[in-house]
Amino acid sequence: MTMQAMPQLGFGTYGRTGEAGIEAISCALQTGYRHLDTAQDYDTEAEVGAALRAAGLPREDVFVTTKVRPANFAPGALVPSLEKSCETLGLGHVDLALIHWPAPNGERPLSDYIPQLVEAKERGLTRHIGVSNFTIALLDETLAMLDGVPLLTNQVELNPWFRNRKLADHCTSRGVTVTCYQPIAKGRLGSDPVMKEIADAHDATPEQIALAFEMSRGYAAIPTSGKAERIRSNFGALDIRLTEGDINRIEGLDRGQRAIDPDWGPDWD
Ligand SMILES: NC(=O)c1ccc[n+]([C@@H]2O[C@H](COP(=O)([O-])OP(=O)(O)OC[C@H]3O[C@@H](n4cnc5c(N)ncnc54)[C@H](OP(=O)(O)O)[C@@H]3O)[C@@H](O)[C@H]2O)c1
Repeated sequence: MTMQAMPQLGFGTYGRTGEAGIEAISCALQTGYRHLDTAQDYDTEAEVGAALRAAGLPREDVFVTTKVRPANFAPGALVPSLEKSCETLGLGHVDLALIHWPAPNGERPLSDYIPQLVEAKERGLTRHIGVSNFTIALLDETLAMLDGVPLLTNQVELNPWFRNRKLADHCTSRGVTVTCYQPIAKGRLGSDPVMKEIADAHDATPEQIALAFEMSRGYAAIPTSGKAERIRSNFGALDIRLTEGDINRIEGLDRGQRAIDPDWGPDWD
């Protein structure tokens, strides 16, 4: 069966390095996650590859994302860097290749690297292309440049405490799926009384509630954990149906505090 779309719940692999990383990614695959998120900058492409080989699943059953680091944006550098990523992963192609960040301090125009991403797709190195940490202006400029080539996702920070609504609404209106990173706010949501109350009412964890909320908005989410019990319980978010009342309450929790905000990053919306 050919996979048409990106599974809504994925497993993040930031920090999942070495033997412990392979074990955690293997646990995620055993649990049922069929979407893995890695990046050239995470040093987890080899671990993802090892876990995939150990799982022995048909290639088309697992959606694998990697991200191109800005150091590989120079003309002629992006495609070979993705070839290297595929080699490290032990895969003929990835399912999604993202631009990890817009060029630091805007030091390169999008026209330097977006066409190279399209070239990677044309060469069959990736089935889909997308971006990460793109603002409304950068997203619109990219879409104009792509001239109809589909852009699958914009992967951005989003969780109940950092709702990122203006950007997320814009992505949705342009037909670009939002993928939420830090979707469980690093496991800190349990200190929020509203999250705790909603979780108790569903006999669930605050993390499951956050993930169910994000998926209810049509977003994808890619939580990670190094602990088998949490890897499994986070996956249980797929079984939770929030009420409209729950959703409205969670919508009210936004603190507007971005956790990932490098000084070389773009001017956020
Ligand atoms: N595109 C980008 O620029 C970007 C930036 C950041 C992240 N990402 C991607 O998004 C993924 C997720 O983001 P993230 O790893 O920063 O944050 P996250 O998934 O929101 O949080 C992960 C942390 O939460 C803890 N945790 C996991 N499940 C828990 C649970 N049920 N209860 C309590 N604590 C729990 C984990 O600790 P334990 O391991 O101890 O369980 C871990 O420290 C990354 O792995 C990466 O793939 C992308």
